[in-house]
Amino acid sequence: MRIYVYSKVYVVNKNFKLRPHPLQVFFPLILVNLYTINMKIGIAADHGGFELKQIIQPFLLSLNYEVIDFGAYEQNNLDDYPDYVIPLSKAVASKQVERGIAICGSGVGAAIVANKIRGVRASLINDHFSAHQGVEDDDMNILCLGGRITGFAAAKEFVKTFLESRFSGGEKYVRRLNKIIDLEK
Ligand code: RB5
Repeated sequence: MRIYVYSKVYVVNKNFKLRPHPLQVFFPLILVNLYTINMKIGIAADHGGFELKQIIQPFLLSLNYEVIDFGAYEQNNLDDYPDYVIPLSKAVASKQVERGIAICGSGVGAAIVANKIRGVRASLINDHFSAHQGVEDDDMNILCLGGRITGFAAAKEFVKTFLESRFSGGEKYVRRLNKIIDLEK
């Protein structure tokens, strides 16, 4: 996601008074795109998800996200997904990154371990509907993917959908989330 910041631009007129820039008077939105703040996304994968991570990471950069890579940094068939997903999950919980993408072979192990971290709401996603509804209703903050299950094109679509979705803040959804927060105390 990109956050668009609207900035008012002023000029000093001949009486040394601040006046809105004439361009902005006629085209009020013209300067909106000048400032963009990129959303920080964390990504992590074990050997089962490494290949997909190599696809998703440049995809995120192409969408102008800032990416923090929690590993693995090489294909190592002996590595363990908790070693990468736990640091990613802690970064999401502490808001070092806004959202996370965790990939293992099936996406199952990644989801299990991510949800052990207080404040994380992770889910294995295999369909477009859940990629956005999981955020809109459940405030999902980590998307888990199965590197051996989901094709590259579908995975990209789920990632994009997840990152472009926002929690609705609806009363019944907040009520449900509060019950989960109570459980975490
Ligand atoms: C690793 O071989 C595999 O078990 C792991 O990536 C993941 O699928 C676990 O859920």
